Amino acid sequence: MANLESFVCEAVDAVKFKLIRDRSDVNDPDNGFKPEMAHQVFGETENIFGYKDLQINVYFSADELDIYYDVKYTTKVDDLTNNQGLKADNVNVITEFFPTGYYTNLEEFLNVSEKKSKMFEPAGEMICEFKTDERTFQIHLCTSTTSNFLKYHERLESFLFWYVDASSRIAQDDRWRFFVVFEKFVNNEGETRYASVGYASVYQYYHYPDKIRPRVSQFLILPPFQRKGIGSKLLQTIYKHYQNNEKVCDITVEDASEDFQRLRNTIDARMLKTLPAFVVDNLKKGFNMAMAQEAKDKFKINPKQSRIVCEILRLGVIDTNNKAEYKAYRIDVKKRLNMNYLKEKRDMKKLTDRGFKVPADKKLLLPSVEENMEQLEGMYRETEDYYRGVLERV
Ligand SMILES: CC(C)(COP(=O)(O)OP(=O)(O)OC[C@H]1O[C@@H](n2cnc3c(N)ncnc32)[C@H](O)[C@@H]1OP(=O)(O)O)[C@@H](O)C(=O)NCCC(=O)NCCS
Repeated sequence: MANLESFVCEAVDAVKFKLIRDRSDVNDPDNGFKPEMAHQVFGETENIFGYKDLQINVYFSADELDIYYDVKYTTKVDDLTNNQGLKADNVNVITEFFPTGYYTNLEEFLNVSEKKSKMFEPAGEMICEFKTDERTFQIHLCTSTTSNFLKYHERLESFLFWYVDASSRIAQDDRWRFFVVFEKFVNNEGETRYASVGYASVYQYYHYPDKIRPRVSQFLILPPFQRKGIGSKLLQTIYKHYQNNEKVCDITVEDASEDFQRLRNTIDARMLKTLPAFVVDNLKKGFNMAMAQEAKDKFKINPKQSRIVCEILRLGVIDTNNKAEYKAYRIDVKKRLNMNYLKEKRDMKKLTDRGFKVPADKKLLLPSVEENMEQLEGMYRETEDYYRGVLERV
C-alpha cells in the first residue's frame, strides 16, 4: 500500500479559479487565483483525500461568469491494487455550488463565451464610473426585478463560499439592492467589453415608522482586483446612494470581516473628521450625542460605528504624554470594550434572579473581575495598535 499522506491535499491549494476574457487567458500562468477558505464546500478540515497531484480547475467567463470545470490527477486511491477498500473523496461536491449548468468541454466553453461576450451588457443602472491604474470601472445598481440579473447574481454569489465565512445564498425579495462592479475595457480587436469585478448586496430593512435602514450584507471584490481601491470606491458609492435619501435612518453592516471593517473605518474616519462636531476640542473630550447625531444626519453612519471612529480620530489628536488626557482616553475605550462582558453579567444576573440555574459551563466561560481587567488591558493594547494603523491612512 502506497504512502497515504501523498493522497491528501489541501482544498485551497487544489482549487484554482481563472477569469477568462479570451482564449489566451487559459494558459496564461499569471492568470488564476486561489480560494481563501474551502470548509463550506469540502468540510471542516479543508482536506481532500484520495488523489495525487490533484488540480481542480474552475474557469469563469469574465463577463457572464459561465463556468468550465475540470479535474486532473495522476493517481486515485481507488485504482491502486490492494487499496484496502479506501475510497477517494468526491471532489464533484464542488459542482453543487455552481448555481446553473457548467461546461466540461473547454472548446465549447470558449466558443460559447466568445459569442456571449459580444452581446454582454452589465445589467441595471450605471451609477458610478471611475479609473484606477488607468483602468476604467463602473458600478451598476440592480434590484431583484432588474432584467437578466438574477441568474447572473447567483453565479456571482457562488464566490462567497470561498471568500466569506458562514455564507449562504440570499432569498430574493424586493428589499435587496445590488451594487455590481465591472471593468470596462477594450479587447485586442478594439471592441468594448466588460468583466465582473465584485459586488455588494444591501438589504433595505424597514425602520419604524416610515424609514428604511439599509444593511450592507455581502461585500466581495474578486482577488485579482483587490488592493486597488475598488472596495473603498464601492463602499463610498453605497454611502453616496443613500446619503441624501430622507427615508434612510442610517446604514449598518452585517458581520463585517476584519479587512472590510478596516476599510470602513478608514473611509468613515475621513468623512467624519470633516464635520463640525468632530473638531479637535470636541474629539479630545470624547464621544457625545451631538457627534452621533451629526454623523447620522450628514453621512448616515450609525452611532455604534461613529463612536468607534471617534475613538480613532481622538487617538490622533490627544497628547499621550499628558497622563490625564491619555488616561481619560483609555478609560473611555475600555468602557466600550467592556460592554460585552457587562451585558453577559447582566444577562446571567437576570437569569439567576428569575430562579433559573445558570449552567456551570456558562459561568466558567465568564472570566472573574480580575481576569476580565487583564483581558481588557490586552484588548485595549490591540485596539490602540489597530487604531494607529487606521490613522496612517486617514
Ligand atoms: C475586504 C475587501 C472587500 C477589500 O476590497 P479591496 O478592493 O481590496 O479594498 P481596497 O483596495 O479599497 O483596500 C484594501 C487595501 O488596499 C490598499 N490599497 C488601496 N488602493 C491601493 C492601491 N492602488 N495599491 C495598493 N494598495 C491599495 C488599502 O489601503 C487597503 O489597505 P489595508 O488592507 O492595509 O488597510 C476584499 O478584500 C474582499 O472582498 N475580501 C474577501 C471577502 C470579504 O472579506 N468581504 C467582506 C465581508 S463583510
